[in-house]
Amino acid sequence: MNNHELLVKNVWSVGANDPGRRLFDGLIPLPDGTSYNAYLVKGSEKTALIDSVDPQYSGKLLENLHAQQVTKLDYIISNHAEQDHSGSIPAVLQRYPEAQVVTNAKNRDFLISLLHISEDRIQVIHDGERLSLGDATLRFYLTPWVHWPETMVTYLEEEKILFSCDFFGSHLAPEYLTSKDDEATLRAAKRYFAEIMMPFSPIIAKNLEKLSPLDISMIAPSHGPVFGNPAFVMNAYREWIKPSYRNKVILPYVSMHGSTEVMVNHLTKELEEQQQIPVERFDLTEADIGELAMALVDAPTLILATPTVLQGAHPAAAYAAMLVNALRPPLKHIGLIGSFGWGTRMVEQITSLLPNSKADLFDPVLIKGLPRPENLQDLTTLASSIATKHASIFTN
Ligand SMILES: Cc1cc2nc3c(=O)[nH]c(=O)nc-3n(C[C@H](O)[C@H](O)[C@H](O)COP(=O)(O)O)c2cc1C
Ligand SMILES: [Fe+2]
Ligand SMILES: [Fe+2]
Repeated sequence: MNNHELLVKNVWSVGANDPGRRLFDGLIPLPDGTSYNAYLVKGSEKTALIDSVDPQYSGKLLENLHAQQVTKLDYIISNHAEQDHSGSIPAVLQRYPEAQVVTNAKNRDFLISLLHISEDRIQVIHDGERLSLGDATLRFYLTPWVHWPETMVTYLEEEKILFSCDFFGSHLAPEYLTSKDDEATLRAAKRYFAEIMMPFSPIIAKNLEKLSPLDISMIAPSHGPVFGNPAFVMNAYREWIKPSYRNKVILPYVSMHGSTEVMVNHLTKELEEQQQIPVERFDLTEADIGELAMALVDAPTLILATPTVLQGAHPAAAYAAMLVNALRPPLKHIGLIGSFGWGTRMVEQITSLLPNSKADLFDPVLIKGLPRPENLQDLTTLASSIATKHASIFTN
């Protein structure tokens, strides 16, 4: 995305690209970097900035506003208090002392506590309220828990643009402004959904419904490209929240000395060759957890494979279980397999790490030491139990 690029008449993209960023929230890998999009709307009477950028790019945002000859700024609309969008608001308020932040009451409280913005610089709006900029009208819709409690979206009525902030975002740092609506864009949006939005799928469904009466000609999110064809990303969201299951098994695993790996290989072979169920394996010592999250969006079954380490699961597997618990994927079935040496409590441990899960548990398959051929029978049985469950999902 180039600097201060014209989006439609009187609306400019004035944010910043961050192609080199590799990690978000100290957790999420960013193979393609990201962008912090902010938008400038120049009405006949007033000028508004919609969201800001990560604080390290404050200078770039101010430069872009300067290049747009913004000498007076009336409003800064804050759709979301997370610092990648709000973090430059203090710098903008300092540069434009007449500007007021416009946001909802919850977001006001966040901005005060997270950024120490003075209360008298914040104007509170309510759900459905309008703000006139002269010949341009902004309307605000509260969309809580997409993905924080204060999140909202802003709709420019005349141009029918939805400024959706994180909703419909993707971690991409594109050189172009408008989405190419290709496979790579869809993957990035799905990955973003999986990492950020999936835990809130039921409430996202309600928010999608809330926005559905709007006539939207363009979605301008705060990460990644703008969608000139809103149906491209909105229909994808409808699929992901449903969810539409695929006939596959997700198999994250770790093995220190190869015994659990023998089990993983046998189960994979049984599932793929005997049961015709594709397996997506993730070696947890090197897996990109964004890829794992994405695989879980439409997976009915997860089998976690781990040796026992100091009574419990290997820490990499415990971490995967915690992620699954936090991301709340729509799993129907979960299983646990692995090798141990002398005694294990990993079933109790992993189960206790999954309190949010509503999935059924297969009988665990735990094998002492290096599996012998006769031990592997339990995995053959597990594969056939999985196939029975999948048959009922995919024939209904
Ligand atoms: C650091 C370490 C700690 C272990 N702690 C336990 C344990 O508490 N209980 C147990 O039954 N086995 C324990 N084991 C043994 C492994 O679970 C066993 O060797 C298993 O077969 C390893 O599987 P892998 O080859 O897939 O890594 C431990 C092994 C290591 C290396
Ligand atoms: Fe966010
Ligand atoms: Fe964000």
